[in-house]
Amino acid sequence: MALHSIFGEFGLGVQTMKVSAATRDRLLRAARKVMKNAYAPFSNFRVGAAILTSKGQVFVGCNVENSSYGMTNCAERTAIFSAIAKSGPELEIQAAAVTNDHGVPCSPCGACRQVIYEFGPRAVVFYEGKKGPKQSLITDLLPEGFRLK
Ligand code: THU
Repeated sequence: MALHSIFGEFGLGVQTMKVSAATRDRLLRAARKVMKNAYAPFSNFRVGAAILTSKGQVFVGCNVENSSYGMTNCAERTAIFSAIAKSGPELEIQAAAVTNDHGVPCSPCGACRQVIYEFGPRAVVFYEGKKGPKQSLITDLLPEGFRLK
């Protein structure tokens, strides 16, 4: 894991995370595993997520739907909320991986992008496509993310 400035040698701008292929694959494997625990009787679309924190811990989550559809919690938010419940709010998300059981390249929804950004403004997001994993910075998925401060 290393920090790289998007402005390279000038050392300006937002620092971004460089995540190895081995770490990416570990996160994707963890996401695929937890996806099996999803509660998705309404959409039949199971999602798994795994996040890596700056302390090197991995937390996982799956989507949990509800008869009152709007109460559904996405896999990404389940993973982040579990991490905070377990370890407290002083975490930085370095990377997040998301998988689904339909084999479609499904990047995090808008609400989850904002939650990832809150705890990982430099995070890299991996999501599986038919042709293998795709990768984006959270700041590319969510430009101008909301901050109170
Ligand atoms: N879902 C996620 O878990 N993460 C996303 O980023 C997109 C959507 C879930 C919510 C719902 O249970 C199902 O996928 C279909 O929308």
